[in-house]
Amino acid sequence: MPTTLGIETSCDDCSVSVVRDNGEVLFLNQDQQDQIHQKFGGVVPELASRQHENQLLPLIEQALKQIPLSSIDLIAVTNRPGLLGALLVGCVTAKSLSLCWNKPLVGVNHIEAHIFSPLLFKKGRRKKKLKIQFPALAFVVSGGHTCLFRVNGIGQSLLIAKTRDDSAGEAFDKFARLMGLKWPGGPLIDSLAQRNKKKEKFFSKIKTNDLSFSFSGIKSQGQRLLANSSKKNIEKIKLSLCDSYQTTIVDHLMDKLNMAFEQKAVKQVLVGGGVSANSFFRNQLKQWSDMKSVPCLFPEKSFCTDNGAMIAWLGGQYFLNGEKDNLKMPCAPTALKKDFFKIHKL
Ligand code: KG4
Ligand code: ZN
Repeated sequence: MPTTLGIETSCDDCSVSVVRDNGEVLFLNQDQQDQIHQKFGGVVPELASRQHENQLLPLIEQALKQIPLSSIDLIAVTNRPGLLGALLVGCVTAKSLSLCWNKPLVGVNHIEAHIFSPLLFKKGRRKKKLKIQFPALAFVVSGGHTCLFRVNGIGQSLLIAKTRDDSAGEAFDKFARLMGLKWPGGPLIDSLAQRNKKKEKFFSKIKTNDLSFSFSGIKSQGQRLLANSSKKNIEKIKLSLCDSYQTTIVDHLMDKLNMAFEQKAVKQVLVGGGVSANSFFRNQLKQWSDMKSVPCLFPEKSFCTDNGAMIAWLGGQYFLNGEKDNLKMPCAPTALKKDFFKIHKL
């Protein structure tokens, strides 16, 4: 029953966690860099790496104050995909600790970690045991990715659909930026939309003729709409505008999820990634799951966005399956298996 120290530094979140193999999160802390990147309207890779360099060791020290080193069985670290400099900070640190502490090392795919994040739970909190049933359909909806996978087991996720252009998270963030909201804008659009009382439709339905996603059209539509309205008018319709934008994106996500589900029998649906924190999306998923009578698992809100706990849990599963890395472990992009981003037929 391994207990794993997980390290996540693939983008702008520096996160350290200690997780048991049943998904119980014994420790989780992170340094979010929103304030650093806010003025640029997106992540600046060099600044992200430098901040990881400052924050990672203090976070690990904090973890060890609560969990003795003797009870940690292995170290798991995100080694793909992500920003190279940011990943290197995590990987080099994990390799050094593995060598100093004489503990096994496992490199983890960040996207696969999001897939299994619904299994995580806060210390002592899970009421009933969750079990993944394969084959499952997994939906990763984040700032970097919008993908559907057919999941046959750990290390057996086949990509079946992805976005043709922007990710859903980017679509939220870019529109929020145009509206003058802070970065990342997804959570802000979510909360403004929740306050809306007057439903109005400003955006046309997003359509693609296959399973793929597309968010560039709605972004341009939003851009035009804002360019042609006065500041005063935008302020007046702000809540319903955010609501309509969010509804159009979530409808598109649900359409494709439904399409994939109808094409292939699966026992369960797993949803993860930052956008799975969206309250309207979570509502729609619950309703859809009841309607289709298929269990749909999504993470607790604190495990939706990037975190070290999902890395620790998945690393622990690989370790249980007898897989580990050594000091030659590569870092993205070399570590990405060539076929991970190849589309498979359902
Ligand atoms: O998973 P994540 O932390 O990073 C990546 O792996 O990309 O996702 C971050 C994304 C951002 O685009 C952020 O705006 C979006 O998740 N996000 C949300 C919400 N919370 C985070 N989007 C919509 N509604 C939310 N409540
Ligand atoms: Zn992520």
